[in-house]
This record gives sequence, C-alpha cells and structure tokens, in this order.
Amino acid sequence: MFDIAVLISGSGTNLQALIDADKEGKWQIKLVVSDNRNAFGLKRAAAANIETLFISKHEPGVLLDLLKKTGVDGIVLAGYLSILPREITAAYEGRIINIHPSLIPAFCGKGFYGARVHAAVLESGIKTTGATVHFVNDEIDSGAIILQKPVPVLDGDTVESLQIRVLRTEHEILVKGVKILVEGASS
Ligand code: GRF
Repeated sequence: MFDIAVLISGSGTNLQALIDADKEGKWQIKLVVSDNRNAFGLKRAAAANIETLFISKHEPGVLLDLLKKTGVDGIVLAGYLSILPREITAAYEGRIINIHPSLIPAFCGKGFYGARVHAAVLESGIKTTGATVHFVNDEIDSGAIILQKPVPVLDGDTVESLQIRVLRTEHEILVKGVKILVEGASS
C-alpha cells in the first residue's frame, strides 16, 4: 500500500477530491498536515478518520520527523502555502507532487498562489488557462511537470468564477497525478 501525506493550508477541496477518489486498493492518505490550525481541510480529514496535525511553517524539522515516523511513501501538496525546506525535498526527491492553478510556466512562482493567479490571468486577457500537477523540488513551482489540462477563460469571468472552473480541473488531474506517482513508485 502506497501511503501518502497530504499538506494543506486552506479549504481542502483538493484534499476532498483525494479522499473521495477510487484508490483501487493501491494507495491511502495516512496523514494530513496543515500549517494553518484553522484550515477547513483539517475538518475534512477528521471527518474521514484521517490523522491530522497542525505544524507551524517555522518547524520544518518537526514535519520531517513526523513524515519519517509515519513512514509515508509520498507527499501531496494540496494548496500548501509554505515552502518545503531542502531537508524535506531532498529526503523525498521524486516523491512529492503539487497542484498549481495555472499552466506552468505561466502565472507561477513567488506570489502566484490561489486567487492571485486567476486575477493575473484575467488581467492578461488570455483566453485559456488551466491547472498543472508537477514534482516538487526546492524551487517554487519548477519541478518536472506530470499533468496539465487547459481551462477556458469565459467572457465576464470574475476571479471567483474562474477559480471555481479551474478547481474542478485541479481535482481531476490531482487524482490522476497521485495515481501516476503510485504507479511510478511500484514500477
Ligand atoms: C487551489 O487553487 C490550489 O491550486 C492552490 O490553492 C488552492 C487550494 O484549494 N494551490 P483547496 O484548499 O484545495 O480548496
């Protein structure tokens, strides 16, 4: 069984997609960690009887110790806003994936997260945005891309309407991305 830890900071709709996913008996969410003690995603995990923990972004050593103690095989960043320290990205090289709400390399990197991404997309006037699942290294949003899917920008879109449309695609490709991570580990 491939055990994953999911790291969150907010509402956890991507986490919920993983909770609800058909895991085909191949993987399971062993642990959910948030750097925000008020993250609604922690309630989602608790409702699914998944171990949850708040770990401040100022305690990366605590996070690494917990991951090792729990024995997770992979890590999924699902709206996790803190930067993982090199001690963690090195220890889990090739086994950490992230979901980003744009078509990387567009609209990514420092300062591009959550609604800010969609505001920049609308400001740019482009007609197609999307979502990306990628491996995590020690540079923001720059690891090898695993999956991408385009999402149309519609006339009259607001940040909220675009974010909702992109989120649906995020949920879809994140589940597929975990399956690729699991298959890659077993091959
Ligand atoms: C998503 O848009 C994700 O791409 C970004 O932060 C948001 C998290 O949403 N990194 P949720 O907490 O999964 O609902």
